[in-house]
Amino acid sequence: MLAVTSRKEHALAMFAKLPDSYDEVAAGFSFFQDRRWRRAAVEAVRATPEDRVLDVACGTGLVGAALVERWGCRVVGLDQSAAMMARARSRVAADPRLAGRVNFVAGEAESLPFADCEFDHLTFAYLLRYVEDPAATLRELARVVRPGGRISSLEFCVPTGVWLWPWRLYTRVGLPALGRLVSRGWYEAGRFLGPSIEDFYRTYPLHRQIELWQAAGVTEVTATRMSLGGGIVIRGTVGG
Ligand SMILES: C[S@@+](CC[C@H](N)C(=O)[O-])C[C@H]1O[C@@H](n2cnc3c(N)ncnc32)[C@H](O)[C@@H]1O
Repeated sequence: MLAVTSRKEHALAMFAKLPDSYDEVAAGFSFFQDRRWRRAAVEAVRATPEDRVLDVACGTGLVGAALVERWGCRVVGLDQSAAMMARARSRVAADPRLAGRVNFVAGEAESLPFADCEFDHLTFAYLLRYVEDPAATLRELARVVRPGGRISSLEFCVPTGVWLWPWRLYTRVGLPALGRLVSRGWYEAGRFLGPSIEDFYRTYPLHRQIELWQAAGVTEVTATRMSLGGGIVIRGTVGG
C-alpha cells in the first residue's frame, strides 16, 4: 500500500501519462544531454558483474539498462508508477542482453521492501523532488546498501551566472511549448518542471543536499554539474 501524499499523488498522475514517449521526449527536453548525464551517474557506480545494484525511481529502465551495458551487473529496478515500470519491463523483455540481468519491484523510495545492506550499490535519477522528506528518503536509500557500496544520483540543476535567465526562459516558455506539441501530459510536465527544480534548489541548495547525504551516512560525497549546470551527478560511499 503506497503512502499517498499530494506530492506523491501528483507524481503518480503525471507519470501515468508519460511512459510511451518518455525516452524520446525526456531526451529532447534536455537537448539530448540526459543520456550523457545518466552515463556519468552510472560510471560513478564502478560495479562488478557479481554486484547487485538497486535503481530507485527506475522509470522506463534507462539507468538499469545503462548499468548492465557498462558494468554487466545485476539490477533491481524499483518504482511507484506501474505505468512507467510496464514500459521498463517491455524494454528488458525485448533485449536479450538485459533479460535475466534486470528485475523489477513495485515500491516507494520512502519505504524500501528490502533488508538492511541488501545491495552492493544504489542509483537514483530524478527522485528527490517527488518525495516529501528528502532527508528521510536518503537515509532509507543508504540503509539498503552495504558498507563501502556506492550511491550515485542524477538530478536537474539550476544554472548560475549568465546561464540562469536563458534557463528560466527555456523552462518557463520552451518546455511547456514543446510539451504542448507532444501531448496534454507532456504540456503539464513541461509546465511543472522549471518551478519544481527551482523550488527544490531554493529549499535544498547544493551544500544542503550534500549535508543530507552525509547525515544519511554517506561519505566522500562529491557533485559534478554538467551541461552548463542543467544536470548534476551527486555520488558517495556508504559508511566509509
Ligand atoms: C523523471 S522519472 C525518472 C525515471 C528514470 N530514473 C530516468 O532516469 O529516466 C521519475 C520517476 O520517479 C518515480 N518516483 C517518483 N517518486 C517516487 C517514489 N517516492 N518512490 C518510487 N518512485 C518514485 C516516478 O514514478 C518516475 O518513474
